[in-house]
Amino acid sequence: MDKQRNATLNVDGKSIDLPIYSGSIGPDVIDIRSLYAKTGMFTFDPGFVSTAACKSDITYIDGDEGVLLYRGYPIEQLAMKCDFLEVAYLILHGELPNAKQKGEFDSIIKNHTMVHDQLTRFYSGFRRDAHPMAILVGVVGALSAFYHEAMDISDEYHRTVSAHRLIAKLPNITAMAYKYNAGQPFMYPRNDLSYTANFMHMMFGTPCEKYEPNPVLVRALDRILILHADHEQNASTSTVRLAGSSGANPFACISSGIACLWGPAHGGANEACLNMLEEIGDVSRVGEFIKRAKDKDDPFKLMGFGHRVYKNFDPRAKLMRETCHEVLNELGLQDDRLFKLAIALEKIALEDDYFISKKLYPNVDFYSGIVQRALGIPVKLFTGIFAMARTVGWIAQWNEMIGDPEQKIGRPRQLFTGATQRDVIAMDKR
Ligand code: CMC
Repeated sequence: MDKQRNATLNVDGKSIDLPIYSGSIGPDVIDIRSLYAKTGMFTFDPGFVSTAACKSDITYIDGDEGVLLYRGYPIEQLAMKCDFLEVAYLILHGELPNAKQKGEFDSIIKNHTMVHDQLTRFYSGFRRDAHPMAILVGVVGALSAFYHEAMDISDEYHRTVSAHRLIAKLPNITAMAYKYNAGQPFMYPRNDLSYTANFMHMMFGTPCEKYEPNPVLVRALDRILILHADHEQNASTSTVRLAGSSGANPFACISSGIACLWGPAHGGANEACLNMLEEIGDVSRVGEFIKRAKDKDDPFKLMGFGHRVYKNFDPRAKLMRETCHEVLNELGLQDDRLFKLAIALEKIALEDDYFISKKLYPNVDFYSGIVQRALGIPVKLFTGIFAMARTVGWIAQWNEMIGDPEQKIGRPRQLFTGATQRDVIAMDKR
Protein backbone atom coordinates (compact mmCIF):
# COMPACT_ATOMS: atom_id res chain seq x y z
CA MET A 1 0.00 0.00 0.00
CA ASP A 2 1.24 3.50 -0.81
CA LYS A 3 2.58 5.48 2.11
CA GLN A 4 0.22 8.27 3.22
CA ARG A 5 1.60 11.63 2.04
CA ASN A 6 1.10 14.72 4.15
CA ALA A 7 1.38 18.46 3.64
CA THR A 8 2.91 20.26 6.61
CA LEU A 9 1.48 23.64 7.43
CA ASN A 10 3.27 25.97 9.78
CA VAL A 11 0.83 28.21 11.66
CA ASP A 12 2.38 30.70 14.09
CA GLY A 13 5.33 28.39 14.69
CA LYS A 14 3.21 25.27 15.20
CA SER A 15 3.41 22.53 12.55
CA ILE A 16 0.41 20.49 11.58
CA ASP A 17 0.19 17.64 9.11
CA LEU A 18 -2.66 17.46 6.63
CA PRO A 19 -3.20 14.32 4.52
CA ILE A 20 -2.79 14.48 0.73
CA TYR A 21 -5.07 12.35 -1.46
CA SER A 22 -4.74 11.45 -5.12
CA GLY A 23 -7.61 10.89 -7.51
CA SER A 24 -7.38 8.66 -10.58
CA ILE A 25 -6.13 11.67 -12.61
CA GLY A 26 -5.84 15.39 -11.95
CA PRO A 27 -4.34 17.45 -9.15
CA ASP A 28 -3.93 15.93 -5.69
CA VAL A 29 -5.87 17.51 -2.84
CA ILE A 30 -4.92 18.48 0.70
CA ASP A 31 -7.54 17.38 3.22
CA ILE A 32 -8.10 20.44 5.40
CA ARG A 33 -11.11 19.12 7.31
CA SER A 34 -9.16 19.02 10.59
CA LEU A 35 -7.71 22.52 10.09
CA TYR A 36 -10.20 24.41 12.25
CA ALA A 37 -9.98 21.89 15.10
CA LYS A 38 -6.17 22.01 14.99
CA THR A 39 -5.60 25.76 14.45
CA GLY A 40 -8.88 27.62 15.01
CA MET A 41 -8.51 28.96 11.45
CA PHE A 42 -10.49 28.55 8.25
CA THR A 43 -9.18 28.50 4.69
CA PHE A 44 -10.12 31.50 2.54
CA ASP A 45 -10.95 30.80 -1.11
CA PRO A 46 -13.69 33.06 -2.53
CA GLY A 47 -14.77 31.78 -5.94
CA PHE A 48 -13.37 28.34 -4.99
CA VAL A 49 -10.32 28.75 -7.21
CA SER A 50 -8.29 26.18 -5.22
CA THR A 51 -11.01 24.15 -3.56
CA ALA A 52 -12.21 20.63 -4.40
CA ALA A 53 -15.67 20.62 -2.84
CA CYS A 54 -16.35 16.90 -3.29
CA LYS A 55 -15.16 13.57 -4.65
CA SER A 56 -16.76 12.68 -7.97
CA ASP A 57 -16.50 9.90 -10.57
CA ILE A 58 -18.48 11.62 -13.30
CA THR A 59 -16.64 14.29 -15.30
CA TYR A 60 -12.97 15.20 -15.59
CA ILE A 61 -11.53 18.39 -17.08
CA ASP A 62 -7.89 19.22 -17.75
CA GLY A 63 -8.06 22.93 -18.47
CA ASP A 64 -4.45 23.27 -19.62
CA GLU A 65 -4.70 20.43 -22.13
CA GLY A 66 -8.27 21.16 -23.25
CA VAL A 67 -9.51 17.72 -22.13
CA LEU A 68 -13.10 16.93 -21.17
CA LEU A 69 -14.05 13.36 -20.25
CA TYR A 70 -17.47 12.05 -19.25
CA ARG A 71 -16.89 8.86 -17.23
CA GLY A 72 -13.47 8.58 -18.94
CA TYR A 73 -14.68 9.01 -22.53
CA PRO A 74 -13.36 12.04 -24.49
CA ILE A 75 -16.05 14.53 -25.42
CA GLU A 76 -14.88 14.43 -29.06
CA GLN A 77 -15.66 10.70 -29.35
CA LEU A 78 -18.98 10.97 -27.54
CA ALA A 79 -20.06 13.90 -29.73
CA MET A 80 -19.19 12.02 -32.94
CA LYS A 81 -20.29 8.48 -32.06
CA CYS A 82 -23.20 8.70 -29.61
CA ASP A 83 -26.58 10.32 -29.32
CA PHE A 84 -27.67 12.44 -26.37
CA LEU A 85 -29.60 9.70 -24.56
CA GLU A 86 -26.61 7.35 -24.83
CA VAL A 87 -24.50 10.04 -23.20
CA ALA A 88 -27.19 10.68 -20.59
CA TYR A 89 -27.20 6.95 -19.76
CA LEU A 90 -23.41 7.03 -19.48
CA ILE A 91 -23.41 10.05 -17.17
CA LEU A 92 -26.11 8.55 -14.96
CA HIS A 93 -24.92 4.93 -14.86
CA GLY A 94 -21.16 5.17 -15.42
CA GLU A 95 -21.02 2.94 -18.53
CA LEU A 96 -22.19 3.29 -22.12
CA PRO A 97 -25.33 1.23 -22.73
CA ASN A 98 -25.38 -1.85 -24.97
CA ALA A 99 -28.16 -2.01 -27.58
CA LYS A 100 -30.65 -3.65 -25.18
CA GLN A 101 -29.93 -1.18 -22.38
CA LYS A 102 -30.18 1.74 -24.80
CA GLY A 103 -33.52 0.49 -26.13
CA GLU A 104 -34.87 0.15 -22.58
CA PHE A 105 -33.55 3.56 -21.56
CA ASP A 106 -35.08 5.29 -24.61
CA SER A 107 -38.38 3.63 -23.85
CA ILE A 108 -38.29 4.62 -20.13
CA ILE A 109 -37.59 8.24 -21.06
CA LYS A 110 -40.41 8.19 -23.62
CA ASN A 111 -42.77 6.90 -20.93
CA HIS A 112 -42.17 10.07 -18.93
CA THR A 113 -42.31 12.75 -21.62
CA MET A 114 -45.80 14.08 -20.84
CA VAL A 115 -46.19 16.59 -18.03
CA HIS A 116 -49.07 16.49 -15.56
CA ASP A 117 -51.91 18.43 -17.17
CA GLN A 118 -52.14 20.73 -14.13
CA LEU A 119 -48.54 21.80 -14.71
CA THR A 120 -49.56 23.48 -17.97
CA ARG A 121 -51.63 25.96 -15.94
CA PHE A 122 -48.53 27.41 -14.32
CA TYR A 123 -47.61 28.99 -17.64
CA SER A 124 -50.63 31.25 -17.70
CA GLY A 125 -49.42 32.87 -14.46
CA PHE A 126 -46.41 34.28 -16.31
CA ARG A 127 -46.39 37.47 -18.34
CA ARG A 128 -46.53 36.51 -21.97
CA ASP A 129 -43.12 38.11 -22.59
CA ALA A 130 -41.49 36.49 -19.52
CA HIS A 131 -37.92 35.35 -20.07
CA PRO A 132 -37.95 31.57 -20.71
CA MET A 133 -35.37 31.07 -17.93
CA ALA A 134 -37.76 32.74 -15.45
CA ILE A 135 -40.43 30.30 -16.63
CA LEU A 136 -38.06 27.33 -16.34
CA VAL A 137 -37.01 28.28 -12.80
CA GLY A 138 -40.68 28.48 -11.80
CA VAL A 139 -42.08 25.47 -13.66
CA VAL A 140 -39.24 23.05 -12.86
CA GLY A 141 -39.45 24.18 -9.22
CA ALA A 142 -43.19 23.52 -9.40
CA LEU A 143 -42.53 19.90 -10.39
CA SER A 144 -41.53 19.40 -6.75
CA ALA A 145 -45.18 19.93 -5.82
CA PHE A 146 -46.17 17.01 -8.07
CA TYR A 147 -43.50 14.63 -6.85
CA HIS A 148 -42.88 15.21 -3.17
CA GLU A 149 -45.03 13.27 -0.70
CA ALA A 150 -44.24 9.86 -2.16
CA MET A 151 -40.54 10.56 -2.68
CA ASP A 152 -37.82 9.13 -0.45
CA ILE A 153 -34.46 10.46 -1.62
CA SER A 154 -32.59 7.85 0.42
CA ASP A 155 -34.12 5.21 -1.89
CA GLU A 156 -31.96 4.74 -4.98
CA TYR A 157 -34.95 3.69 -7.09
CA HIS A 158 -36.81 6.92 -6.23
CA ARG A 159 -33.73 8.93 -7.18
CA THR A 160 -33.48 7.11 -10.52
CA VAL A 161 -37.14 7.76 -11.32
CA SER A 162 -36.63 11.46 -10.51
CA ALA A 163 -33.71 11.53 -12.94
CA HIS A 164 -35.83 9.90 -15.67
CA ARG A 165 -38.68 12.32 -15.09
CA LEU A 166 -36.45 15.37 -15.28
CA ILE A 167 -34.59 14.24 -18.41
CA ALA A 168 -37.86 13.30 -20.12
CA LYS A 169 -39.86 16.40 -19.20
CA LEU A 170 -37.30 19.17 -19.63
CA PRO A 171 -37.66 19.30 -23.46
CA ASN A 172 -41.43 19.52 -23.09
CA ILE A 173 -41.23 22.22 -20.37
CA THR A 174 -38.65 24.19 -22.39
CA ALA A 175 -40.65 24.00 -25.63
CA MET A 176 -43.77 25.06 -23.71
CA ALA A 177 -41.93 28.17 -22.47
CA TYR A 178 -41.30 29.05 -26.14
CA LYS A 179 -44.85 28.28 -27.26
CA TYR A 180 -46.25 30.40 -24.44
CA ASN A 181 -44.11 33.36 -25.54
CA ALA A 182 -45.09 32.81 -29.17
CA GLY A 183 -48.80 32.50 -28.37
CA GLN A 184 -49.00 29.08 -30.01
CA PRO A 185 -50.66 25.97 -28.56
CA PHE A 186 -48.51 23.57 -26.56
CA MET A 187 -47.56 20.48 -28.55
CA TYR A 188 -47.81 17.01 -27.06
CA PRO A 189 -44.63 14.96 -27.33
CA ARG A 190 -44.35 12.48 -30.21
CA ASN A 191 -42.81 9.32 -28.86
CA ASP A 192 -42.06 7.94 -32.33
CA LEU A 193 -39.31 10.55 -32.61
CA SER A 194 -35.84 10.62 -31.06
CA TYR A 195 -35.29 12.76 -27.95
CA THR A 196 -33.94 15.73 -29.89
CA ALA A 197 -36.26 15.40 -32.91
CA ASN A 198 -39.18 15.29 -30.48
CA PHE A 199 -37.97 18.52 -28.87
CA MET A 200 -37.82 20.17 -32.31
CA HIS A 201 -41.32 18.93 -33.04
CA MET A 202 -42.61 20.45 -29.77
CA MET A 203 -40.80 23.72 -30.60
CA PHE A 204 -41.53 24.14 -34.27
CA GLY A 205 -44.56 21.95 -34.92
CA THR A 206 -48.16 23.16 -34.77
CA PRO A 207 -51.39 21.16 -34.62
CA CYS A 208 -52.14 22.32 -38.18
CA GLU A 209 -49.24 20.62 -39.93
CA LYS A 210 -46.99 17.65 -39.39
CA TYR A 211 -43.44 18.74 -38.63
CA GLU A 212 -40.64 16.76 -40.28
CA PRO A 213 -37.36 17.39 -38.48
CA ASN A 214 -34.30 17.79 -40.73
CA PRO A 215 -31.80 15.05 -39.66
CA VAL A 216 -28.74 17.32 -40.11
CA LEU A 217 -30.29 19.92 -37.81
CA VAL A 218 -31.44 17.27 -35.32
CA ARG A 219 -27.86 15.96 -35.20
CA ALA A 220 -26.50 19.49 -34.62
CA LEU A 221 -28.87 20.13 -31.74
CA ASP A 222 -28.18 16.69 -30.32
CA ARG A 223 -24.48 17.57 -30.35
CA ILE A 224 -25.16 20.84 -28.52
CA LEU A 225 -26.93 18.79 -25.85
CA ILE A 226 -24.04 16.32 -25.58
CA LEU A 227 -21.47 19.12 -25.25
CA HIS A 228 -23.44 20.78 -22.47
CA ALA A 229 -24.50 17.65 -20.56
CA ASP A 230 -22.05 17.95 -17.68
CA HIS A 231 -19.04 20.02 -16.69
CA GLU A 232 -17.67 18.95 -13.34
CA GLN A 233 -18.25 21.26 -10.34
CA ASN A 234 -19.25 24.44 -12.21
CA ALA A 235 -21.37 27.14 -10.53
CA SER A 236 -24.80 25.69 -11.32
CA THR A 237 -23.79 22.11 -10.48
CA SER A 238 -22.30 23.29 -7.20
CA THR A 239 -25.57 25.15 -6.57
CA VAL A 240 -27.56 21.95 -7.13
CA ARG A 241 -25.22 20.04 -4.81
CA LEU A 242 -25.42 22.71 -2.10
CA ALA A 243 -29.21 22.95 -2.33
CA GLY A 244 -29.47 19.15 -2.34
CA SER A 245 -27.08 18.74 0.60
CA SER A 246 -29.88 19.75 2.98
CA GLY A 247 -32.04 16.88 1.69
CA ALA A 248 -34.29 19.18 -0.36
CA ASN A 249 -36.60 17.91 -3.10
CA PRO A 250 -34.53 17.19 -6.27
CA PHE A 251 -36.89 19.08 -8.60
CA ALA A 252 -36.48 22.18 -6.40
CA CYS A 253 -32.69 21.64 -6.43
CA ILE A 254 -32.59 21.48 -10.24
CA SER A 255 -34.60 24.71 -10.31
CA SER A 256 -31.85 26.34 -8.21
CA GLY A 257 -29.30 25.12 -10.78
CA ILE A 258 -31.35 26.71 -13.57
CA ALA A 259 -31.37 30.02 -11.66
CA CYS A 260 -27.59 29.94 -11.34
CA LEU A 261 -27.08 28.95 -14.97
CA TRP A 262 -29.07 31.96 -16.16
CA GLY A 263 -26.30 34.47 -15.31
CA PRO A 264 -24.22 35.90 -18.19
CA ALA A 265 -20.94 34.67 -16.64
CA HIS A 266 -22.28 31.08 -16.90
CA GLY A 267 -24.94 29.65 -19.22
CA GLY A 268 -26.39 33.05 -20.05
CA ALA A 269 -23.22 33.77 -22.05
CA ASN A 270 -24.65 32.26 -25.26
CA GLU A 271 -27.54 34.75 -25.25
CA ALA A 272 -25.23 37.59 -24.16
CA CYS A 273 -22.77 36.64 -26.92
CA LEU A 274 -25.37 36.83 -29.65
CA ASN A 275 -26.69 40.13 -28.31
CA MET A 276 -23.10 41.40 -28.30
CA LEU A 277 -22.60 40.36 -31.94
CA GLU A 278 -25.81 42.19 -32.86
CA GLU A 279 -24.56 45.25 -30.98
CA ILE A 280 -21.20 45.19 -32.76
CA GLY A 281 -23.17 44.84 -35.98
CA ASP A 282 -20.30 45.09 -38.45
CA VAL A 283 -16.68 43.92 -38.82
CA SER A 284 -15.56 47.57 -38.97
CA ARG A 285 -16.58 47.99 -35.31
CA VAL A 286 -14.72 44.96 -33.92
CA GLY A 287 -11.64 47.05 -32.97
CA GLU A 288 -13.77 49.42 -30.91
CA PHE A 289 -15.28 46.53 -28.88
CA ILE A 290 -11.91 44.79 -28.42
CA LYS A 291 -10.61 48.10 -27.03
CA ARG A 292 -13.53 48.28 -24.61
CA ALA A 293 -12.96 44.67 -23.47
CA LYS A 294 -9.36 45.59 -22.61
CA ASP A 295 -10.25 48.77 -20.73
CA LYS A 296 -10.12 48.16 -16.98
CA ASP A 297 -12.58 50.99 -16.34
CA ASP A 298 -15.15 49.54 -18.72
CA PRO A 299 -17.19 46.59 -17.36
CA PHE A 300 -17.67 45.27 -20.91
CA LYS A 301 -16.29 41.76 -21.54
CA LEU A 302 -16.16 39.83 -24.78
CA MET A 303 -18.97 37.37 -24.22
CA GLY A 304 -18.10 33.81 -25.22
CA PHE A 305 -14.43 34.37 -24.38
CA GLY A 306 -12.53 33.10 -21.35
CA HIS A 307 -13.08 30.25 -18.97
CA ARG A 308 -12.21 29.57 -15.35
CA VAL A 309 -10.76 26.16 -16.16
CA TYR A 310 -9.83 26.03 -19.87
CA LYS A 311 -6.67 28.04 -20.40
CA ASN A 312 -5.63 26.79 -23.84
CA PHE A 313 -8.80 25.95 -25.64
CA ASP A 314 -12.29 24.72 -24.82
CA PRO A 315 -12.67 21.33 -26.58
CA ARG A 316 -16.42 21.94 -26.77
CA ALA A 317 -15.80 25.18 -28.69
CA LYS A 318 -13.76 23.30 -31.31
CA LEU A 319 -16.61 20.84 -31.90
CA MET A 320 -19.20 23.59 -31.87
CA ARG A 321 -17.23 25.55 -34.48
CA GLU A 322 -17.40 22.49 -36.82
CA THR A 323 -21.11 22.04 -36.11
CA CYS A 324 -21.61 25.71 -36.92
CA HIS A 325 -20.12 25.18 -40.40
CA GLU A 326 -22.25 22.04 -40.98
CA VAL A 327 -25.49 23.78 -40.02
CA LEU A 328 -24.81 26.95 -41.99
CA ASN A 329 -23.90 24.87 -45.06
CA GLU A 330 -27.02 22.75 -44.73
CA LEU A 331 -29.17 25.88 -44.54
CA GLY A 332 -27.24 27.78 -47.23
CA LEU A 333 -26.25 30.42 -44.66
CA GLN A 334 -22.46 30.37 -45.25
CA ASP A 335 -22.56 34.14 -45.66
CA ASP A 336 -24.55 34.71 -42.49
CA ARG A 337 -23.70 38.23 -41.26
CA LEU A 338 -23.26 37.31 -37.59
CA PHE A 339 -21.22 34.21 -38.36
CA LYS A 340 -18.81 36.25 -40.49
CA LEU A 341 -18.61 38.82 -37.73
CA ALA A 342 -17.94 36.11 -35.14
CA ILE A 343 -15.09 34.68 -37.25
CA ALA A 344 -13.56 38.16 -37.64
CA LEU A 345 -13.87 38.84 -33.92
CA GLU A 346 -12.34 35.49 -33.05
CA LYS A 347 -9.37 36.11 -35.39
CA ILE A 348 -8.65 39.60 -34.08
CA ALA A 349 -8.99 38.58 -30.41
CA LEU A 350 -6.78 35.51 -30.86
CA GLU A 351 -3.98 37.71 -32.26
CA ASP A 352 -4.27 40.36 -29.55
CA ASP A 353 -1.66 40.44 -26.75
CA TYR A 354 -4.27 41.10 -24.05
CA PHE A 355 -6.25 37.95 -24.91
CA ILE A 356 -3.10 35.89 -25.49
CA SER A 357 -1.48 36.91 -22.18
CA LYS A 358 -4.66 36.27 -20.19
CA LYS A 359 -5.30 32.99 -22.05
CA LEU A 360 -8.75 34.07 -23.18
CA TYR A 361 -10.08 31.80 -25.93
CA PRO A 362 -13.54 31.34 -27.38
CA ASN A 363 -15.62 29.04 -25.20
CA VAL A 364 -18.50 26.76 -26.20
CA ASP A 365 -21.01 29.57 -25.97
CA PHE A 366 -19.26 31.64 -28.60
CA TYR A 367 -20.50 29.31 -31.36
CA SER A 368 -23.52 27.62 -29.80
CA GLY A 369 -25.57 30.81 -30.10
CA ILE A 370 -24.90 31.08 -33.84
CA VAL A 371 -25.87 27.43 -34.37
CA GLN A 372 -29.03 27.80 -32.32
CA ARG A 373 -30.03 30.97 -34.11
CA ALA A 374 -29.60 29.17 -37.46
CA LEU A 375 -31.80 26.34 -36.14
CA GLY A 376 -34.54 28.90 -35.55
CA ILE A 377 -34.27 28.92 -31.76
CA PRO A 378 -34.99 32.39 -30.38
CA VAL A 379 -32.06 34.06 -28.61
CA LYS A 380 -33.90 34.21 -25.29
CA LEU A 381 -34.24 30.43 -25.29
CA PHE A 382 -30.52 29.65 -25.78
CA THR A 383 -29.81 29.27 -22.08
CA GLY A 384 -32.96 27.16 -21.75
CA ILE A 385 -31.44 24.66 -24.22
CA PHE A 386 -28.30 24.64 -22.08
CA ALA A 387 -30.45 23.96 -19.00
CA MET A 388 -32.21 21.09 -20.78
CA ALA A 389 -28.85 19.45 -21.50
CA ARG A 390 -27.23 20.19 -18.14
CA THR A 391 -30.18 18.67 -16.28
CA VAL A 392 -28.52 15.29 -16.93
CA GLY A 393 -25.30 16.41 -15.25
CA TRP A 394 -27.11 18.13 -12.38
CA ILE A 395 -29.24 15.12 -11.53
CA ALA A 396 -26.32 12.68 -11.87
CA GLN A 397 -24.18 14.83 -9.56
CA TRP A 398 -27.07 15.21 -7.10
CA ASN A 399 -27.60 11.45 -7.13
CA GLU A 400 -23.89 10.79 -6.57
CA MET A 401 -23.89 13.18 -3.62
CA ILE A 402 -27.03 11.78 -1.95
CA GLY A 403 -25.74 8.22 -2.43
CA ASP A 404 -22.41 9.04 -0.75
CA PRO A 405 -22.40 7.70 2.85
CA GLU A 406 -20.02 10.53 3.86
CA GLN A 407 -22.36 13.23 2.52
CA LYS A 408 -22.81 16.26 4.80
CA ILE A 409 -24.80 19.45 4.48
CA GLY A 410 -22.68 22.10 2.74
CA ARG A 411 -21.87 24.93 5.13
CA PRO A 412 -18.99 27.26 4.18
CA ARG A 413 -17.62 29.72 6.75
CA GLN A 414 -16.41 33.30 6.28
CA LEU A 415 -13.80 35.93 7.06
CA PHE A 416 -15.99 38.38 8.94
CA THR A 417 -15.18 42.04 8.21
CA GLY A 418 -18.31 43.75 9.60
CA ALA A 419 -18.96 45.63 12.84
CA THR A 420 -17.92 43.96 16.06
CA GLN A 421 -20.50 43.67 18.86
CA ARG A 422 -22.20 46.95 19.80
CA ASP A 423 -25.34 48.12 21.61
CA VAL A 424 -28.57 49.38 20.07
CA ILE A 425 -29.05 53.10 20.88
CA ALA A 426 -32.57 54.51 21.15
CA MET A 427 -33.90 56.06 17.91
CA ASP A 428 -33.94 59.68 19.26
CA LYS A 429 -30.25 59.40 20.25
CA ARG A 430 -28.86 58.07 16.90
N1 CMC B 1 -13.25 39.74 -22.04
C1 CMC B 1 -12.28 40.58 -21.57
N2 CMC B 1 -11.54 40.31 -20.49
C2 CMC B 1 -11.75 39.16 -19.86
C3 CMC B 1 -12.73 38.24 -20.28
C4 CMC B 1 -13.48 38.57 -21.42
N3 CMC B 1 -14.43 37.71 -21.86
N4 CMC B 1 -12.74 37.17 -19.45
C5 CMC B 1 -11.80 37.41 -18.53
N5 CMC B 1 -11.19 38.62 -18.78
C6 CMC B 1 -10.09 39.21 -18.01
C7 CMC B 1 -10.58 39.69 -16.64
O1 CMC B 1 -10.98 41.04 -16.69
C8 CMC B 1 -9.35 39.49 -15.79
O2 CMC B 1 -8.45 40.56 -16.04
P1 CMC B 1 -7.45 41.08 -14.87
O3 CMC B 1 -6.53 39.94 -14.60
O4 CMC B 1 -6.77 42.24 -15.51
O5 CMC B 1 -8.31 41.44 -13.71
C9 CMC B 1 -8.72 38.24 -16.36
O6 CMC B 1 -9.15 38.17 -17.74
C10 CMC B 1 -9.11 36.95 -15.64
O7 CMC B 1 -10.53 36.85 -15.68
P2 CMC B 1 -11.45 36.50 -14.44
O8 CMC B 1 -12.77 37.16 -14.63
O9 CMC B 1 -10.71 36.76 -13.16
O10 CMC B 1 -11.56 34.94 -14.64
P3 CMC B 1 -12.65 34.01 -14.03
O11 CMC B 1 -12.09 32.65 -14.07
O12 CMC B 1 -13.12 34.52 -12.70
O13 CMC B 1 -13.90 34.16 -15.03
C11 CMC B 1 -15.35 33.85 -16.86
C12 CMC B 1 -14.16 33.30 -16.07
C13 CMC B 1 -15.85 32.80 -17.85
C14 CMC B 1 -16.51 34.18 -15.90
C15 CMC B 1 -14.91 35.15 -17.62
O14 CMC B 1 -13.87 34.81 -18.52
C16 CMC B 1 -16.05 35.81 -18.36
O15 CMC B 1 -16.81 36.57 -17.74
N6 CMC B 1 -16.22 35.53 -19.70
C17 CMC B 1 -17.32 36.06 -20.46
C18 CMC B 1 -18.59 35.28 -20.13
C19 CMC B 1 -18.60 33.89 -20.76
O16 CMC B 1 -18.32 33.72 -21.94
N7 CMC B 1 -18.98 32.89 -19.93
C20 CMC B 1 -19.19 31.53 -20.42
C21 CMC B 1 -18.28 30.52 -19.81
S1 CMC B 1 -18.36 28.96 -20.71
C22 CMC B 1 -19.92 28.34 -20.41
C23 CMC B 1 -20.05 27.80 -19.05
O17 CMC B 1 -19.39 26.78 -18.76
O18 CMC B 1 -20.82 28.38 -18.25
